[in-house]
Amino acid sequence: MSAPAPPVTAPHAPRPVTPVGILAAELDAVLAHAEAGGLDAAALERLRAARDLAAGLDPYLERATSPESPALADLARRTAAHDWRAHPGDTGLEQEMLSGHVEGQLLRLLVHATRARSVLEVGMFTGYSALAMAEAVGDDGRVVACEVDAEVAAFAKESFAASRAGARIEVRVGPAADTLRALAGAGETFDLVFVDADKAGYRDYLDLLLGSDLLAPHGLVVVDNTLMQGQPWRGTTPTANGAAVAAFNDALAADPRVEQVLVPLRDGLTLVRRVPEEPR
Ligand SMILES: C[S@@+](CC[C@H](N)C(=O)[O-])C[C@H]1O[C@@H](n2cnc3c(N)ncnc32)[C@H](O)[C@@H]1O
Repeated sequence: MSAPAPPVTAPHAPRPVTPVGILAAELDAVLAHAEAGGLDAAALERLRAARDLAAGLDPYLERATSPESPALADLARRTAAHDWRAHPGDTGLEQEMLSGHVEGQLLRLLVHATRARSVLEVGMFTGYSALAMAEAVGDDGRVVACEVDAEVAAFAKESFAASRAGARIEVRVGPAADTLRALAGAGETFDLVFVDADKAGYRDYLDLLLGSDLLAPHGLVVVDNTLMQGQPWRGTTPTANGAAVAAFNDALAADPRVEQVLVPLRDGLTLVRRVPEEPR
């Protein structure tokens, strides 16, 4: 297992954005209260065990997963070192959007396992997942990455230019739904599609993929953030993103065109494939 990565000098400390990360932070806060208030020793011990279980999972996954390439590590460092609060416009972009080491490695393995040569990404940010998949597609493969924010697309292209695999990525700047329609109109087909853009657009993106030849017959769709910090089941008032993801998950579960599984890695990834039509 590799040693933990050196700390990054970031303008803002990252906040927890996955169900397990949020659980660990909640347990940390409760434990601090309990320690100050003199909770019974046995209860305190169980609370500490619960916190350690939750807080240790993500770091352990990092250590047990193959290390990222130097190019991906550089891209992650650049993203963390950037002051996203100073990014032009009210875009909501933040370092926590980056998928990162473990998810990037899962995407690489999915590209290898499906032997995907053409990959489509919907929502690129600074390009971590696009570059991870580009490293796996091989010299004859390509990744088309959609991003609506021109500045962040330019930021990503600077990282792509510094790596051999970066040359396999074509960036399309604009609303992803428009890009998907244009790609479908041009007869493009993709073996693997990673959906990680605006959550309100997820249902449209899936309909565009399934209602055209954009998704190859054997194609795999990977949809990110489908646990959305636990909002779909927590019973608290969801954010707009939480409500959109909950509605997307419900629609997917009732969609006869596909079969899917929600993998609880980080903030959840749903793997979707089109079910072949039964012969009449
Ligand atoms: C969660 S981030 C993507 C993270 C990236 N896939 C990674 O793994 O590092 C979502 C990105 O989608 C972009 N986005 C949001 N709405 C979009 C749209 N309608 N069309 C294209 N991109 C969009 C945002 O600007 C943001 O950069």
